[in-house]
Amino acid sequence: MDVKQIHYKDTYSIRHQMLRPGRPIETCYFEGDDDELSFHLGAYIDGNLASVASFYLRSHPSIIEEQHQYQLRGMATLPEHQRKGLSQALLQTAFPIIRNNHVNLVWCNARALATGFYEKVGFEKKSDIFEIPDVGPHYLMVKTI
Ligand SMILES: CC(C)(COP(=O)(O)OP(=O)(O)OC[C@H]1O[C@@H](n2cnc3c(N)ncnc32)[C@H](O)[C@@H]1OP(=O)(O)O)[C@@H](O)C(=O)NCCC(=O)NCCS
Repeated sequence: MDVKQIHYKDTYSIRHQMLRPGRPIETCYFEGDDDELSFHLGAYIDGNLASVASFYLRSHPSIIEEQHQYQLRGMATLPEHQRKGLSQALLQTAFPIIRNNHVNLVWCNARALATGFYEKVGFEKKSDIFEIPDVGPHYLMVKTI
């Protein structure tokens, strides 16, 4: 498995299949994808993209313990490659990049179904369950890195 920094448009195929199925491809653009301090990682198996994740320099209004924060979004692994450690590998690559930008806190709006994964990799729930329209129930989750 190889982890590489990728262009945000390279995430679209997996975002579309895993996170926005049946929706227009335009919904695979996430605000801030092309910001200078945003970055996108991909895990490749045998040369094929199998897992993606994106990171945005963006603070959450209710998290006050750190001024500068990164948001994790668009984390997804193709079904046939899940539970092989790919998402975990993307995070292990991302955290040093984030720390190099002098940021020590990462947050995400985690799908309720995925909270088991986030807890496994050290995130903690920081909210009650809430609904994101058209996507479903979520929790705010946070990790200090
Ligand atoms: C959630 C998701 C991104 C995890 O990706 P993955 O590549 O399968 O995760 P990893 O293999 O790196 O998992 C790391 C650890 O978490 C565990 N894990 C993975 N998914 C889990 C889940 N749903 N519940 C509990 N634990 C989970 C793995 O078993 C592994 O544990 P281990 O180190 O003891 O073996 C993947 O299941 C997915 O794409 N889901 C659909 C899209 C989605 O919901 N994305 C999240 C949007 S917020």
